Amino acid sequence: SLALVGDPGASLYNTGAHTTTGVGMKGLVLSGGKGTRLYPLTYTKAKQLIPVANKPVLFRVIEAIRDAGIREIGIVVGDTAAEVKEAVGRGERWGVEITYIHQSAPLGLAHAVKESREFLGDDRFVMFLGDNCIQGGISPLIEQFGQSDWNAQIVLTRVSDPSHYGVAELDDDGRIVRLVEKPKEPRSNLALVGIYMFDRSIWEAIANIKPSWRGELEITDAIQYLVEHGYRVYPYIHRGWWIDTGKKADMLDANRLVLEEIEHRVEGFVDRDSQLIGKVTVEAGAEVINSVIRGPAIIGENARIVNSYIGPFTAIYHHTVIEDSEIEHSIVLEHSSIVAIPHRIEDSLIGRNVKVHRSPIKPKAYRLTLGDHSDIGLL
Ligand code: DAU
Repeated sequence: SLALVGDPGASLYNTGAHTTTGVGMKGLVLSGGKGTRLYPLTYTKAKQLIPVANKPVLFRVIEAIRDAGIREIGIVVGDTAAEVKEAVGRGERWGVEITYIHQSAPLGLAHAVKESREFLGDDRFVMFLGDNCIQGGISPLIEQFGQSDWNAQIVLTRVSDPSHYGVAELDDDGRIVRLVEKPKEPRSNLALVGIYMFDRSIWEAIANIKPSWRGELEITDAIQYLVEHGYRVYPYIHRGWWIDTGKKADMLDANRLVLEEIEHRVEGFVDRDSQLIGKVTVEAGAEVINSVIRGPAIIGENARIVNSYIGPFTAIYHHTVIEDSEIEHSIVLEHSSIVAIPHRIEDSLIGRNVKVHRSPIKPKAYRLTLGDHSDIGLL
């Protein structure tokens, strides 16, 4: 199989249902930081804007907060501020009001909260990492926290590699004993999911913590302060899927999990010689000609699929061309084309403006223009 890497992008999407549970609370989304781990995909892009099943994770985060009834959302931005602002705008698209908060430097999650003080005031708020997404959204959580007198609530989930995350240790009654950021020897397999709820006691906590060994003001330490000083901090154990797209290996996984839940919806054109099997979304302006698409799969706006096979768990983004080729369990980002490739492409992540084609030029040879850190597997 063949895997090429370029760089990704974002496009515009619409909304879902509204509820009113979170009225009175604010939302804080962290979309700053450097995003180096997805390099080179984030070489020029915020990792939060990388699409999962054709929708940027950041948009999924905004929708989850909006669906919990929250209208006022602050987005913390850093080096990639311009791209984030251009993609998200002022929030009308989702019926929310967005305020941008410029973090002076990526000095940690608690530092980002600290610099959002003016926006948050003394209100209760949910903080959501802009590269995280959980199955089922956050409405039940917001409802529970909004009606309680709890000072904080954290979301935990069981993982196989806890040392990559903040890890919580609970006692026999399920109360939080200790939180440690990326421990070498984790005391449990309960990782902190990037969704947190706070009241104003967080300000006292943040004022009392020091930067960690990695030089960051850790939100984990601030929560540990709350626990140690008798504040009411409750864990919620999440059981569905959780994706953290900040970790590159998870991109195809994330895509697969979200695609499993897509609807069968055809807004584009599918000719009579084509066949859609299972759940397939064909977005507006897309054309499917003499091709087979076996879902779950999504074909983006104005994409052209001609004489091709698109297999399960594939997301083809907008303005792409797939012609005389077969592709499965892959992500293709915008403005890329795959034409006349003789072998099926699988397990691949293909960036923006990438061309995969056969070369008629003699002598017969591979001719490659690959970005740094690209990874291609040739037959
Ligand atoms: O994904 C869950 C994990 O997220 C938790 O288990 C950890 O306890 C928590 O510390 C956090 O760890 P990461 O190392 O994955 O965080 P990361 O540096 O990737 O930052 C998460 C998001 O916050 C990302 O969208 C960038 C943004 N950010 C990050 C920093 C350090 C900011 O906006 N400002 C910052 O200063």
